[in-house]
Amino acid sequence: MQQVAGKSGAVLRIDLQAVRGNYRLLRSKLGTAHCGAAVKADAYGLGAIPVAQVLFDEGCRHFFVAHLEEAISLRPHLPETAEIIVMHGSPVGYEAEFLAHRCMPVLNSLEQIQAWRNLAAAKQTALPAIIQFDTGMARMGLSAAEVAEWRADPDFIRGIDVRYVMSHLACAEDQSNPMNRQQLQRFQQIRQLLPSAGGSLANSSGIFLGPDFHFDLARPGAALYGIAPVAGQENPLFPVAYLQGRIIQTREISAGTTVGYGATWQANETTRIATVAVGYADGWMRSLSNRGIAQIAGRDVPMVGKVSMDTITLDVTHIASEHLQPGELVDLISATNTVDAVAGKASTIAYEILTSLGARYQREYTDGKPDGKQ
Ligand SMILES: Cc1ncc(COP(=O)(O)O)c(C=O)c1O
Repeated sequence: MQQVAGKSGAVLRIDLQAVRGNYRLLRSKLGTAHCGAAVKADAYGLGAIPVAQVLFDEGCRHFFVAHLEEAISLRPHLPETAEIIVMHGSPVGYEAEFLAHRCMPVLNSLEQIQAWRNLAAAKQTALPAIIQFDTGMARMGLSAAEVAEWRADPDFIRGIDVRYVMSHLACAEDQSNPMNRQQLQRFQQIRQLLPSAGGSLANSSGIFLGPDFHFDLARPGAALYGIAPVAGQENPLFPVAYLQGRIIQTREISAGTTVGYGATWQANETTRIATVAVGYADGWMRSLSNRGIAQIAGRDVPMVGKVSMDTITLDVTHIASEHLQPGELVDLISATNTVDAVAGKASTIAYEILTSLGARYQREYTDGKPDGKQ
């Protein structure tokens, strides 16, 4: 715990050197396959621009976002040689924007393929794209019926320079789930349609399923940001996000006093309560009410009472008062209370914890890169 001057209720530190280390670890597992990066949703809440820039510096050249608008925002911040790939493809009528902003669509439907073909015909040039196939998520990409249409139509992708054939795994973090192999088999069959295009199947957890799943390009997001890739196994990645909330005030309450909205927690002895300036408006999940923990001077302290919009309350009875002064920072996400641990207590996944991180936090980026590479 430390005191950091600032007007915000919390400090979010993003360790870019850890992002670099995580990228290197994933790349080392991938052998010859390229390691791209999912930087959608503002790099899972951590900042797409600084994250993509350090990843580019590490050699990453494939950056995946969900929306065209995200690609347009990121484009000016990355060199020409960075491919920015829009996983949702083009909204109807916006195809030409992909050329204007030098980004590449993932084509997910017959309509998107047709529109991309039309643009290629109008421009009289082949246009690059990735084509996504549904191998088991029933979410995005061409269905088996649409693949049959493709087989019957020799002009199906005329004018499209298909760089990669892509699909997405539904259960990759559960290594024993038979769905992984089923999807792999479907993907291998589909790839026969376009043997000259690369393949892209693995997200973070998919990389840990082994070389059969790697193909030519992986698309990790979560693992880059320190989220555990394999359920039930030790996390080999470096933590990236560190969140510290600021103490606003403390008070001593007597036995029988209740804390917070709904009076859901009651002191059964004299208790010291610290109020910290982070709440559900900052993405600190309300489901952490009476369940979450914070850490002060290396000790766990329980969150008591409901999470409010702007505050949480902690039972700090056993913490020395020198650590409890207004302005002191308490750890909410740390190397020992990781995003995965917080997510577990909040009954959600670490992805949701990160992508919910609040806009009110004071953000600090550290990149301890010495001079040159580690
Ligand atoms: C299609 C696709 N590829 C890759 C990713 C990155 O997945 P992860 O963050 O699990 O590595 C996502 C994330 O949701 C995705 O939807």
